[in-house]
Formats: sequence, structure tokens, C-alpha cells
Amino acid sequence: MNRKFAIILGAAAAVLIGFSVTTRADDDVISKFMKEYHKAPEGTDPVCKKAGAGTATAEELQGLLDGYKKICGTEPPQGDKAVWVKNCQALVAAVKGLQEGKEGAAADYKKAVNCKGCHNDFKP
Ligand code: HEC
Repeated sequence: MNRKFAIILGAAAAVLIGFSVTTRADDDVISKFMKEYHKAPEGTDPVCKKAGAGTATAEELQGLLDGYKKICGTEPPQGDKAVWVKNCQALVAAVKGLQEGKEGAAADYKKAVNCKGCHNDFKP
């Protein structure tokens, strides 16, 4: 193997490693958010349920909004990125509606936070 080729191989490997590390980190962002906001310990309501029922606090809504914005900017573990961004943006818009007390915001949110729909496409 000549030297130049070895350097190219090394660079390619470094890019590959860097890529898998960032993808993994993105996955963690989504997993962490799901556990914090979409799933609650036995006997308590997750924030997403409270948001849909109109009982989430201002603080919880803000956390939810920040979380959706954050996952919107990440790479989903699988599926079409453009659709992913569209789904996340619908969630961001719905939470903003809740914050503003917009009429029908809870219904919009419940429609947007479609666990199964999103998991079918994007959850491995
Ligand atoms: C916008 C898309 C989307 C919506 C809506 C969504 N999820 Fe998820 N969820 C994901 C993705 C993507 C993963 C996989 C993350 C990974 O494995 O990296 C996931 C993973 C999870 C996990 C596993 C977390 C872990 O790693 O332990 C739980 C629990 C979960 N979601 C609950 C819910 C519930 C409950 C709802 C509905 C209230 C919901 N999700 C709505 C995209 C979504």
C-alpha cells in the first residue's frame, strides 16, 4: 500500500467514526426527550398528556417546546429527514399555540403528537 493511499484510508476512517459518533449522540437526544416528556413513571402523567389536557404548567410547556425544537434539528435514527422535520415543526407550532392559549390548540397538539405514527416511520 502506498503512503498516499494509506492517508486517504485513514481520513475516510476518521470521517466514518466521527459520523457514527454524532448519529449516536442525536439518537440519545431523542431518547432522552422521549423519556422525559412522553413517558412518565407509573402512576404519573407524562408532560405530553398534561399538555393535551391543558393542565401542563408554563414551565412544562416551555421544556416541551425546547425539546421539540431540539429534536427537530437532529437526525432521526431512520426515515426521511424532511418528513421528520415537518412532524417536529407541527409539534413546535402546536405547543406555541398552547402557550398562547389559542383556541383548539389542545386538539392540534394531540393530533401532532402521534406516538405510533411517528414511531412507525422513525423509531428503529
Ligand atoms: C416526532 C416523532 C415522534 C413522536 C410524535 C413520538 N415519538 Fe417517541 N420516539 C421517536 C423516535 C425517533 C424514537 C427513537 C429514538 C432512538 O431510539 O434513538 C422514539 C423513542 C421513544 C421511546 C423510547 C425511548 C428510549 O430510548 O428508551 C419512548 C418510550 C417513546 N418514544 C414514547 C413516545 C410516546 C409515549 C409518544 C406519544 C405521546 C411518542 N413517543 C411520540 C419519535 C417520536
